[in-house]
Amino acid sequence: MRFDVITLFPNLFPGPLGAGVVGRAIERGTLVLQAHDLRAFAGDKHRQVDDIPYGGGPGMVLKPEPIFKAVREVRGASQAPCVLLTPQGRKLDQPLATTLAQEPRLILVAGRYEGFDERVRTGLADYEVSIGDYILSGGELAAMILVEVVSRHVRGVLGDEESAGRDSFSEGLLEHPQYTRPAEFEGQRVPDVLMSGNHELIRQWRAEMALDRTRKRRPELLQHSPTSAGRATHAKES
Ligand code: 6GU
Repeated sequence: MRFDVITLFPNLFPGPLGAGVVGRAIERGTLVLQAHDLRAFAGDKHRQVDDIPYGGGPGMVLKPEPIFKAVREVRGASQAPCVLLTPQGRKLDQPLATTLAQEPRLILVAGRYEGFDERVRTGLADYEVSIGDYILSGGELAAMILVEVVSRHVRGVLGDEESAGRDSFSEGLLEHPQYTRPAEFEGQRVPDVLMSGNHELIRQWRAEMALDRTRKRRPELLQHSPTSAGRATHAKES
């Protein structure tokens, strides 16, 4: 899968995406990540990409022309969807990540300042995505998170041992507790069941812990999870 990122700060990339699972997938060629400098697509000699807002108000707005030019040139003859990263977008979650991972190529546009001219939204964007309900100074960190999250759903990025389908969130639950050696640390013991060698009991214990943790910390996840009907009934009983 290929990601093109249009940004005023291309040298932020690959940044953390150069390390770990995604970094190795880039080295193998399973993923391609290319950053493009938005300013290179500005028409005038001052390479201006922003301007004051019509109607007044603080801050600057990203002009439409450089962004349209950048997306069209980067897209070329491909049909790659354009994804705007903004706090007004649909919140990124696993279902959206799996949808985006079906595309062979995405063009991500990271904004800055007070945001994009609305015509970028209405005339260019196929998706508008936010990573959560807080404000970042720009879309670059959000674009990196989107690349990381989507990449985990691309075949060949994760090893067999760590397929994205086995992430706890793919079942709509938080992860169960994990332990490694030593069996006792500062008075805290590893639960006996994990050292019992009884794989069925271990599986049951982990499922219970995942459900219990989700109920206590993120009960809203149980309303929408794949098997929520069964679990919701069960949840009422206890
Ligand atoms: Cl995509 N951009 C910015 N600037 N802030 C955000 C965001 C995106 N998602 C959450 N906050």
